[in-house]
Amino acid sequence: MKILVINGPNLNMLGKREPEIYGTTTIEEIEKALVDYAHSFSAVELEFFQSNHEGEIVEKIQSALNMFDGILINPAAYTHTSVAIGDAIKAVNLPCVEIHLSNIQSREEFRKNSFTAPACIGQIAGFGKNSYLAALFCLVKHIESL
Ligand code: DQA
Repeated sequence: MKILVINGPNLNMLGKREPEIYGTTTIEEIEKALVDYAHSFSAVELEFFQSNHEGEIVEKIQSALNMFDGILINPAAYTHTSVAIGDAIKAVNLPCVEIHLSNIQSREEFRKNSFTAPACIGQIAGFGKNSYLAALFCLVKHIESL
């Protein structure tokens, strides 16, 4: 099973960026934790992609068609603005789980809306690094059940 993990803008700054909200874990540490956790499932392969550019994320999602079984995505600020990323997820029709480190429902009003979550099978938010691990568990179980 091949899973594409996409991280959106400013997530390359994790560790330094607003640690009181996003914690001190870096994106490399999150990716390593995912790789380690993936070993508890049989034959799960992960590929990682981070971009600060909306179009690059759209193109990466498009390129996942026929290449991956599912997508984990933290669209970061594009969650709240990007019709294009939501449309790309719908276009490839791959099972996708939306991830947020912070609980977007308990923050500013504008963060409560997601343009991408309606295209996903589910959303996990508020558990820091563990949001990613929980999302991997849920996506693997979902794909296995297909
Ligand atoms: C985020 C939440 C977004 O609102 C924010 O713009 C981010 C990170 C999160 O993981 O909590 O960049 O996606």
